[in-house]
Amino acid sequence: MATTQLEGIGACVFDAYGTLFDVNAAAQHCAADLGDKWQPLAELWRGRQLQYTWLRSLMKNYADFWQVTGDALDFAMDALDLEDSALRERLMELYLQLDAYPEVASVLKQLRDSGMKTAILSNGSPKMLAAAVANAGIGDYLDAVISADQIKVYKTAPAVYQLAVDQLGVAPSGICFQSSNAWDAHAASNFGFRVAWVNRFGQARERLPGNPDVMLDSLEGLPALVGLG
Ligand code: LAC
Repeated sequence: MATTQLEGIGACVFDAYGTLFDVNAAAQHCAADLGDKWQPLAELWRGRQLQYTWLRSLMKNYADFWQVTGDALDFAMDALDLEDSALRERLMELYLQLDAYPEVASVLKQLRDSGMKTAILSNGSPKMLAAAVANAGIGDYLDAVISADQIKVYKTAPAVYQLAVDQLGVAPSGICFQSSNAWDAHAASNFGFRVAWVNRFGQARERLPGNPDVMLDSLEGLPALVGLG
């Protein structure tokens, strides 16, 4: 839980996948077909998805997050000897309607009702983010949904975090950024955001530049952290 309160916050900005939306939900919903492979599939899929974003950014060979997500799924299914094009299609469709974590809608509503600016800043393509936001019914609680696709490079590039500064008109030190992805939390802190690392999975601290201000178990402590609780 938060032990500090952050002063002077004008906007709360959220990572999408893993932070607002459960990235394991697609494979879990296919557990009847996948049996005990659903968890290894979810882990390999997410792992390769992230690695491909970083590797493509270094190679300066951008493809949008929908393609990267499909490429990563193809790798994961291949690695686990799963050859099933109908299942692949179903998993990709499910990725457009991932479950939101239970506290997400109420926390966003509370922030917005208190006058806080709110936004998503994600690697997700505009189409993916629009679908996930609509599915979770949180569109009314967001001022902006910002995609790295605008500049064709992925987090951890500082230019991605700069998009939120430019589009919200709030200085980095006035932005509280939330991510469950520790590498994203460190990169956002390194950029200059105030950061709450939402450590949903009890992971060890990364040894990377940046120093998240606070660690939360879920988003529930966020309104109090930014002085609204
Ligand atoms: C995102 C991924 C990295 O939403 O979780 O940007």
